[in-house]
Amino acid sequence: MAWPSARLVRLLAVLAIMPTAVWAGFVLTHAKIKPSIAHGPLIAAHGDVACVACHMRTPGTVRQQVQAQVRYVLGMRQTPVDFGYAEVGSEQCLACHARPNERHPIYRFREPRFAKAVEQVDARSCLGCHSEHVPQIVTVEPTLCRACHEDLKVKNDPIDTPHERLVSLKKWDSCLGCHDFHGNHPVSSPTRMAEALPALKIWSYFQGGDDPYGSPKFYEGKVQ
Ligand code: HEC
Ligand code: HEC
Ligand code: HEC
Ligand code: HEC
Ligand code: HEC
Repeated sequence: MAWPSARLVRLLAVLAIMPTAVWAGFVLTHAKIKPSIAHGPLIAAHGDVACVACHMRTPGTVRQQVQAQVRYVLGMRQTPVDFGYAEVGSEQCLACHARPNERHPIYRFREPRFAKAVEQVDARSCLGCHSEHVPQIVTVEPTLCRACHEDLKVKNDPIDTPHERLVSLKKWDSCLGCHDFHGNHPVSSPTRMAEALPALKIWSYFQGGDDPYGSPKFYEGKVQ
């Protein structure tokens, strides 16, 4: 029986991956050479967070993973193998950042009524607005509130330029000047526009500059 050449090529490709998997495993667990492989450094606040807190090992040894991948290539297995490390997801973030007072919990936005909104800003995942190995603390525009608050009206509105007016003027860069997103800072929103944080400070924070909301926070990320 002739060996199908396309299969042979795929099998060789699998064998070529093997050393990479071994190498990646080594690098991810050895502190001294860690920074050389990452896309970019971690954000400063994650200085003490271990690689494996976000990059969880997938089940099985490298040998088992390679065997499973060979079965996949030969058509004896339905799905390919996640080599060594699983994709990073919200579960890893929540292991350190779950908070009972979350103002915008990600699970809420899986409801169908937010389908249009999450096309603009994927609020169903931490990684819709945050990343890692990039300088940015927040990776979306500071005008993100617009995706969900376009119908905003506040009864007995206490602020000097009412919310309805801010919305009609499209002042979407003003919101974060008076409200944080997660509700994790114990400060009350000011009622005068003049007391709001300037949009530039928020933009600069998003780009990796100083945190304008300051300490304390209700909940800090867990330290391992
Ligand atoms: C706070 C969570 C977090 C920590 C800690 C972290 N990473 Fe990542 N890493 C991510 C995320 C999210 C991505 C995917 C985003 C991207 O492609 O840049 C990623 C992507 C990567 C990639 C690219 C993988 C790919 O499939 O594209 C490598 C390599 C990597 N990280 C290595 C490291 C190393 C080494 C460390 C320790 C110094 C580390 N990471 C620590 C979250 C983290
Ligand atoms: C829709 C966008 C969006 C999503 C989704 C999102 N964030 Fe944020 N996050 C922000 C914005 C905007 C800020 C800056 C304002 C603030 O501090 O609330 C921020 C700030 C933070 C901060 C620093 C301030 C604090 O509260 O301690 C942490 C930590 C954080 N996010 C973690 C997470 C985690 C974990 C998830 C997923 C469970 C997540 N975020 C999902 C937009 C988002
Ligand atoms: C993906 C949709 C979505 C986005 C994006 C979003 N919000 Fe919200 N927000 C909501 C929902 C839903 C509620 C809850 C409203 C309710 O319970 O009636 C809410 C509530 C709030 C509240 C009231 C919270 C409370 O405890 O009473 C504030 C303040 C707020 N959002 C500010 C913001 C700001 C500022 C932004 C932009 C940084 C923003 N939101 C972005 C969906 C969103
Ligand atoms: C000058 C400060 C200021 C600005 C700018 C501002 N808000 Fe507010 N906001 C307040 C205050 C004060 C309240 C009422 C007290 C509270 O809920 O903190 C409030 C209340 C809210 C509420 C709760 C409404 C309710 O019925 O409970 C939401 C949602 C909200 N703001 C969203 C926004 C969005 C979105 C923007 C941007 C278009 C924005 N705010 C801009 C100060 C501000
Ligand atoms: C092992 C625990 C741990 C994990 C996992 C983790 N964090 Fe953090 N994070 C921290 C600590 C500790 C801080 C610093 C204290 C604080 O600001 O709460 C922090 C701070 C932050 C900040 C604030 C940065 C700033 O400069 O203001 C953001 C945003 C953030 N984390 C997002 C994430 C996201 C998104 C993920 C998942 C990809 C994640 N974290 C995973 C522990 C963790």
